[in-house]
Amino acid sequence: MNHGTEGDIAVPIAERSRYHFQPSANWMSDPNGPIHWRGQYHLFYQHNPRNPFFGPMCWGHAVSPDLVRWAHLPIALAPTPGGPDADGCWSGCAVDDAGTPTLIYTGVVKDEDYQANYRQTQCLAISDDNLLTWRKDPRNPIIPGPPEGDDIMVTGFRDPCVWREADGWACVVGSGVEGVGGHILLYRSPDLHCWDYVGRLYSRPCQETSPVWTGSIFECPQFFPLGDRHVLIFAVWDQDHLHHTVAMVGDFDGRAFTPRDMRRLDLGPDYYAPSVMLDARGRRVLWGWVREARRRRVQLATGWAGMMSLPRVLNLRSDGGLGVVPAPELEALRRDHRRWRDLMLSPDAANPLDEVRGDSLEIRACLDLGEASSCTLALRRSPDDEERTLVRYERETGALVVDRDRSSLDPAARRGSHGGPIPPGEDGFVTLHVFLDRTIVEVYANGHGCITERIYPTRPDSLGISLEAEGGVVSARTLDIWTIASASDASPGY
Ligand code: FRU
Repeated sequence: MNHGTEGDIAVPIAERSRYHFQPSANWMSDPNGPIHWRGQYHLFYQHNPRNPFFGPMCWGHAVSPDLVRWAHLPIALAPTPGGPDADGCWSGCAVDDAGTPTLIYTGVVKDEDYQANYRQTQCLAISDDNLLTWRKDPRNPIIPGPPEGDDIMVTGFRDPCVWREADGWACVVGSGVEGVGGHILLYRSPDLHCWDYVGRLYSRPCQETSPVWTGSIFECPQFFPLGDRHVLIFAVWDQDHLHHTVAMVGDFDGRAFTPRDMRRLDLGPDYYAPSVMLDARGRRVLWGWVREARRRRVQLATGWAGMMSLPRVLNLRSDGGLGVVPAPELEALRRDHRRWRDLMLSPDAANPLDEVRGDSLEIRACLDLGEASSCTLALRRSPDDEERTLVRYERETGALVVDRDRSSLDPAARRGSHGGPIPPGEDGFVTLHVFLDRTIVEVYANGHGCITERIYPTRPDSLGISLEAEGGVVSARTLDIWTIASASDASPGY
């Protein structure tokens, strides 16, 4: 591990992920247009190839046979001087237009009249060499601005999500008005080029907070059928800040969406900009941007910023909510399996996982909390506990919490606890499925909740893990731990 210094604290500067996707260098943010094309998965992403900060956005591009091993491909889209995307090719989607791969994205131009805000329009590009290079449509922009007569600004009109309908195409665009609330705008088109505004698919005032706050602008909307329902997912932007992601399950009458269930898609602070793909097996696979939580100076020294969440498969649960589980393809990276059965954990007992070490691990525990108040898994723990990240399930509140108060000796990277209620499974047990990849932790609980967090341990010996019960005995009915191999060691050989 290389170290830089921040004040008198050593901070790791080169902890690249081992199995989470990231570009070879510089800035990465939103996943864009994931698509399954002729047997391969293509993933695009917001990318500034010049430095590890937000800048004039390009679309980076990678391809995989299996969602796990990725090969980098040349940049797919870059700003065209003088064009409607002169200052950036922002987020969007990919569709198959009768055999022609087609990207629909937001083009932006910095406009002094709008106080250096970005004027946003929707643009289109096609490929005729199997997604390698892209030709922008000379008629761009295909949607030149928000609907007239509405109060929506050209600076809050982005991230098209397009799908095929029986007799044409439909598209939702993320939008909203600062201090008022978010809108999802619905359009229809016969040919992907001429678009008619249909109306607002969904709107919500920013004053509403229950069961979840949705802010002023909806970014990166994803809208698709799942079982006999429709799902709307988006990211919440408000007052120049990226907040969280929201998932709604409900009904669509062809014009408007009515939610029946609404909750956070991920309970952590570092997960944003969701993008969903339909694959050849009919699965809806979700990607998200996992952003950095460290200082600009450290980010500059590190030379890269941002990584992709693991692929997550969505399903409709019997309680009407959205279920989420990691894609089973990840199992191909498992190594060194260890298993415990009926492990009884009592408070003050010795740590049964004393021998296990690592910063690239998968841990799956099926827990019976009995009368215990909580059960805690500690990760990236130094021998003296100076650094450690806690994953705790609390029985009474049914809350899953990740506590980063001692994740790092760097004070800027210790940012409190996050989480929320995730009820136990139908069998009454708590199943925690944890993926640790150096500076990222993804925790899946009971098949329908998830927390993603960035952590930045500074000590090279912060590699221990432990499992503890509090306030009573916890029975770990099964506990499985694997070391996870590097995805690049298993190169697809392109
Ligand atoms: C979300 C977002 C999108 C926008 C893109 C620009 O992170 O703000 O709304 O298209 O990033 O990079």
